[in-house]
Amino acid sequence: MRLTIFGSGYVGLVTGACMAEMGNHVLCYDIDEAKIERLNNGEVPIYEPGLDAYIARNAEAGRLEFTTDVKKAVDHGLFQFVAVGTPPDEDGSADLKHVLSVARSIGEHMDEYRVVVDKSTVPVGTADKVKDEIQAALDARGVSIEFDVVSNPEFLKEGAAISDFMKPDRIIVGTDNPRVTELLKSLYEPFNRNHDRVISMDIRSAELTKYAANAMLATKISFMNELANLAEKFGADIESVRLGIGSDPRIGYHFIYPGAGYGGSCFPKDVQALAKSAADEGYDATLLNAVEAVNLRQKRRIFEKIQSHYGDDLKGKTIALWGLAFKPRTDDMRAASSRVTMEALWEAGAKVKAYDPEAAGEAARIYPDQAGLELCDTAYDAVEGADALVIVTEWQEFRSPNFSLLKEKLSDAVIFDGRNLYEPETVEGRGLQYYAIGRGRS
Ligand SMILES: NC(=O)c1ccc[n+]([C@@H]2O[C@H](COP(=O)([O-])OP(=O)(O)OC[C@H]3O[C@@H](n4cnc5c(N)ncnc54)[C@H](O)[C@@H]3O)[C@@H](O)[C@H]2O)c1
Repeated sequence: MRLTIFGSGYVGLVTGACMAEMGNHVLCYDIDEAKIERLNNGEVPIYEPGLDAYIARNAEAGRLEFTTDVKKAVDHGLFQFVAVGTPPDEDGSADLKHVLSVARSIGEHMDEYRVVVDKSTVPVGTADKVKDEIQAALDARGVSIEFDVVSNPEFLKEGAAISDFMKPDRIIVGTDNPRVTELLKSLYEPFNRNHDRVISMDIRSAELTKYAANAMLATKISFMNELANLAEKFGADIESVRLGIGSDPRIGYHFIYPGAGYGGSCFPKDVQALAKSAADEGYDATLLNAVEAVNLRQKRRIFEKIQSHYGDDLKGKTIALWGLAFKPRTDDMRAASSRVTMEALWEAGAKVKAYDPEAAGEAARIYPDQAGLELCDTAYDAVEGADALVIVTEWQEFRSPNFSLLKEKLSDAVIFDGRNLYEPETVEGRGLQYYAIGRGRS
């Protein structure tokens, strides 16, 4: 089948590459000319494990192409996938300008029937706005061409995006036209061989399902972070509590790790956008607002621990920081906890020597002129000449460090661990002071 993908970011590129892998002919479009040029030169502009091989193989086979020509994009695919960003607006609502601009382009250029498939995370009711935008563009041209709009939210996780897309837990198809459900089912058939994963529903429910999933996951994290803070007050150990509650199958072990708060391009903005949509309907989403508030507080928790160890003035201190990405196996630093920690450290006069296996380039792009930031090539380069170590992202290579070397290098022999990677006795047994999240009285 022929597909066009609008937006060549994390979702667009993974969707395009995986759809091409199944034999479809995919054309990826983006307004970012530099990005498309890099893709046409065989470069992959983001880090996502396995993506480069998928792109190379399918581009080579002629099934995956990249363009900035919007007319060509609209002409190419029966399916027009929308995978552009929906960043938060100033008031927290999802900014739909990219989604609606794609809709307009489709209306301005389509010459025959098109299925517009929305993969971007958008507030309930957006499909109606997309329909109106396309219709208005068609009306302005004085033409009448049939089209359908489908909500097909994406659930991939950065860092495991290829396998999530290839073996999805579910494929949500929201449409009011049964014929379109069948078209989408046949497109997704290769991803569906083991058992039918398509869950079809009305468009609004599909749009809400995506927000519900992210809000639920964010709630689990904020709940555990709240409990971790209480464990510190009560002198309990949240890791024991985690095991104690996770063993209940109604609760389960997934997604109940306390830490330095959630970041990334989805949870923070989606929780906020859902709360804002609720407010627009006159409903005060008390729980969602609390989830967000707990998370904002939690992102400062590591800095608070540094501050209570050292006092307010950190002038002259050099802090090694392991992990810049918002989670392992990605280079994405959107809303990352590392940013909150580093910015607070700079404000207090400290310098940061940071190491991340993939996100150094992104950090250099975000903080181009930050004198307080030195980006290092290895984890142990970062601790060279540092007073303390802070861990913000749980990359696997941080799980089993050489504690004796850390003790030797860190002049204050202290670790602040925002991801609870180690057993306190192990670290303390090597002569280092250890602060983690919820693992002892603070
Ligand atoms: N990143 C994730 O893990 C993830 C997972 C599920 C859903 N989502 C949702 O998918 C959407 C895309 O997220 P992302 O992380 O891939 O974003 P991204 O920022 O990585 O990519 C978006 C791309 O869209 C391009 N773009 C903007 N306007 C355009 C236009 N008019 N036409 C064509 N391209 C345009 C941008 O240049 C950019 O390359 C968002 O709504 C997000 O919430 C993201």
